[in-house]
Amino acid sequence: MRRKLVVGNWKMHGSRPANAELLSALIGARPFAADVAVCVPAVFLTETAATLASTELRWGAQDVSPHEQGAYTGEISAGMLAECGCRYVITGHSERRAFHGESDLLVAQKAKAALARGVTPIVCVGETLAQREAGETEAVVKRQLSAVIHQLAHCASEIVVAYEPVWAIGTGRTATPEQAQAVHAILRAQLQAATGRGEAMKILYGGSVKPDNAATLFAQADIDGGLIGGASLKAADFIAICRAAA
Ligand code: 13P
Repeated sequence: MRRKLVVGNWKMHGSRPANAELLSALIGARPFAADVAVCVPAVFLTETAATLASTELRWGAQDVSPHEQGAYTGEISAGMLAECGCRYVITGHSERRAFHGESDLLVAQKAKAALARGVTPIVCVGETLAQREAGETEAVVKRQLSAVIHQLAHCASEIVVAYEPVWAIGTGRTATPEQAQAVHAILRAQLQAATGRGEAMKILYGGSVKPDNAATLFAQADIDGGLIGGASLKAADFIAICRAAA
């Protein structure tokens, strides 16, 4: 039985007072039956680490450089994230693919850099609405995941995968549990074929997960939890979603 994982992706939201309030509500709502983490803007990592250090809650970042160190102005290395105690880093979120032109190869290199420093990459894959309507969903997510598997070789079983259909992100339009499950099953089969450990790996669903749809999504055989955007910023909603993952 795979233990569920719920990760809040704060994106570019938050402020010191708001973060303190949100994290203290989360700390007070423990224990959870699932593993719970928050991926916060990098400037808040140190404070988040200090706040959560004495709890079992985990934290992480939203992006990482593929490089170890050097003259890369504005970038943050996996070693730095590790020093901040990050357990996770999101790589290849569709917003980074779309707004920062990240390629499948770059996403794979970032995932590799993270793993090399002991930070677990949460690798996001997902199709656009046009791709879904053109019947390309399976080909797109397999291509995105395959770039990472190829780059990581035998370490590929150490990643977490997040299926985030682009058309469901921030739109209030959730994939139905059946639609999500179908893609998760494809991804798990691909992971199993490539690593032999697919059955043990976590595949999260992301895209308009809310307290009222979380339980049905998480009840699907191959959905091991969620990557939560908007609802992770509201303490009551995020806590309800964490409780829905048992
Ligand atoms: P929403 O939950 O706001 O749709 O965002 C999902 C997401 O992008 C998480 O990474």
